[in-house]
Amino acid sequence: MSIEQQLRKFLAPEYVFGPDARRMVGQYAKNLGAHKVFVVSDPGVVAAGWTADVTASLDDVLLPWTLFTAVSSNPRAEEVMAGAAAYAAEQCNLIVAVGGGSPIDCAKGVGIVSSNGGHILDYEGIDRVPLPMPPLICIPTTGGTSADVSQFAIFSNPQKKNKIAIVSKSVVPDLALIDPQPLTTMDAYLSACTGLDALTHAIEAFVSNAHSPMTDLHALESVRLLSRYLLLSLQAPDDVGLRSQVMMGSLQAGLAFSNAILGANHALANSLGGFLDLAHGECNATLIDHVIAFNYDSTPERFDAISMAMGLNLNGLSSRERKEKLLQHVRFMKNQAGIANVLSTLGVSSADVAGLALNAHHDPCLLTNPRSANVRDLEVLYEESL
Ligand SMILES: [Fe+2]
Repeated sequence: MSIEQQLRKFLAPEYVFGPDARRMVGQYAKNLGAHKVFVVSDPGVVAAGWTADVTASLDDVLLPWTLFTAVSSNPRAEEVMAGAAAYAAEQCNLIVAVGGGSPIDCAKGVGIVSSNGGHILDYEGIDRVPLPMPPLICIPTTGGTSADVSQFAIFSNPQKKNKIAIVSKSVVPDLALIDPQPLTTMDAYLSACTGLDALTHAIEAFVSNAHSPMTDLHALESVRLLSRYLLLSLQAPDDVGLRSQVMMGSLQAGLAFSNAILGANHALANSLGGFLDLAHGECNATLIDHVIAFNYDSTPERFDAISMAMGLNLNGLSSRERKEKLLQHVRFMKNQAGIANVLSTLGVSSADVAGLALNAHHDPCLLTNPRSANVRDLEVLYEESL
């Protein structure tokens, strides 16, 4: 049966896209019935001044707020539980997240526990959050994770040294205020890692075995935007026009992957992030060409469509040459973006590979990878990336 004949649904939150969108939070919070706002951010975003813009907007409409910033770069289960306790103690009734994927995921976790009780780890898996969260407004400050539009939330469990995924329409925010201006204070390396994470979202969503005509539209447009503008934006970090194109590429990737899910790249990266507390975007960027090489032959025509969206000319090339051309281009992008890493430079050793592969094999992202991968396949992918 063709994809067009299969059941598919598409879920997206309301969003406002454009410069100064972050300053609209006060009025929207009021419209959603807020009487006290729980603002989740992190120290870096606070230092850059973006959180203050958001709280000033709450002040403008006389909404009281409290700020929670005890969030690590891979948000931990106990940080979510501390946030939920603070949310209850402060008697808030609406959550605003300002930051990259970590504060946004932490905010989602606080919302889940606040409405449903129990422990955040109780909700691991797909569609296991019974009650809706309090209203959640997200203001992303990186052009990458798309947690502001997705039905995913990822948490680290340091006791087990792994990550858990919560996938539920209950964690889709009520509103995303997507403003390209905060991207201008990301350093070049964070911009590169988050931008390549977004490109990974678009590629994995496009070749996912749960893709649909609607997710394809967004995924291919994302590939086009990110391959055209990411490197340019790294050379002109203050150019809000270029940052807007990257932010739009990230948004479109988010709309695609939230509905088509991801693949082996994210399964491998999530395992690395949980086991060694490595940065999510950096892991995905390091692995991307290896996973494309593994998956290409399972769906060559879809990878060729990705190449064409990148502007590559495939005329007259054999399948093997087309694969090589795509890999060369992705490696060129990584190189130009300054991602010279292999996993060993991130602190991964060959002794870690077996445990990492076992955890990756349990990751729900693997279910939609176009090529089935057993534990040994995943070990080989890690070994090739060392
Ligand atoms: Fe990602």
